[in-house]
Amino acid sequence: MNENMLSGVLNALEDGVTVFDLEGTALFCNEKALALLHCAPGTIRRIGDLPNEVRAFFGDVRSGRTETIELNGQAVRLHYQDLRKNGMRTGAVLMMSDLGEQQRADRMRYEFTANVSHELKTPLTSISGYAEMIENGMAKDEDIRRFAERIRRESNRMLALVSDVITLSELDERQILEQAETVDLYTLAAETVETLKSAAMVRGVSVQLLGGPTPVFGVRTLLSELVYNLLDNAIRYNRDNGTVWVRVADRQLSVRDTGIGIPKHHLGRIFERFYRVDKSRSKATGGTGLGLAIVKHISEEHHAKIVLESAEGIGTEITVTFPPTES
Ligand SMILES: Nc1ncnc2c1ncn2[C@@H]1O[C@H](COP(=O)(O)OP(=O)(O)O)[C@@H](O)[C@H]1O
Ligand SMILES: [Mg+2]
Repeated sequence: MNENMLSGVLNALEDGVTVFDLEGTALFCNEKALALLHCAPGTIRRIGDLPNEVRAFFGDVRSGRTETIELNGQAVRLHYQDLRKNGMRTGAVLMMSDLGEQQRADRMRYEFTANVSHELKTPLTSISGYAEMIENGMAKDEDIRRFAERIRRESNRMLALVSDVITLSELDERQILEQAETVDLYTLAAETVETLKSAAMVRGVSVQLLGGPTPVFGVRTLLSELVYNLLDNAIRYNRDNGTVWVRVADRQLSVRDTGIGIPKHHLGRIFERFYRVDKSRSKATGGTGLGLAIVKHISEEHHAKIVLESAEGIGTEITVTFPPTES
């Protein structure tokens, strides 16, 4: 087979194929590989020209290694194989396959389950540890109260997590907009401010409700959940004696705080499930890491748009804009 025929065959493959020599120079890159990498022909000349996510895979190259990564919003499976001639390593082949929507959904579900189990394990381990100490008589009388308090705190964390997981799986499964009605965002915001009043008071945070009646078309319980999560964060990630402004007007809800802010490089990821900027702060205050994922999901269901602005050490503002109500 001549070279032209060979590259014709490689270009006909459904998988991406890239071949490198021992110096890391690209010898060949088929069309599917360029499509998956979102690269123009001729732009992959060395391993260093690969996108960061793919290059990171080369950090631990073992022949036969496979890993799935997220690339340009697609799930892509990478497979690395040494090229050998007479037992000598002569180069490497990197194969890439597109997982497709179904496999991507399966993978996300699997990862979510694994994360939930992991998150549940920590509080359960500590509950079981404290209970065991009391049971064995290892806890002194004055410790018992403290241990009971920790057990209660850890149980509350588990309850919050389980309830967020239930919300998310309902959002994943249900045709929720079936129960949509006209809801006044302002009334809803006022109720949420009331619910979180004591949490704000504990931190000395003042919550200001601004604006006026704003009808939107949606599911009351979900919209309520959305406002709750935004306001909860604005209080949780505020400074002591800070302020939160909840403004409702013109089909918009915005929640602004004078809190710690979110560093720029985290902005793109905080709506992901279980993504937290500061894991220990989130956990210490009883966060689940699911609040913004729920907010995003509910917004999408309502065809609402989210805009986030944040400055480190100054504060954060999240604005949700709903589409016009049908009249
Ligand atoms: N108003 C805010 N100010 C600063 N950081 C925030 C704010 N809202 C969310 N974050 C960051 O985004 C992360 C994800 O938020 P969320 O999904 O609600 O989870 P959590 O349970 O940790 O609050 C938080 O852990 C925090 O790091
Ligand atoms: Mg939260």
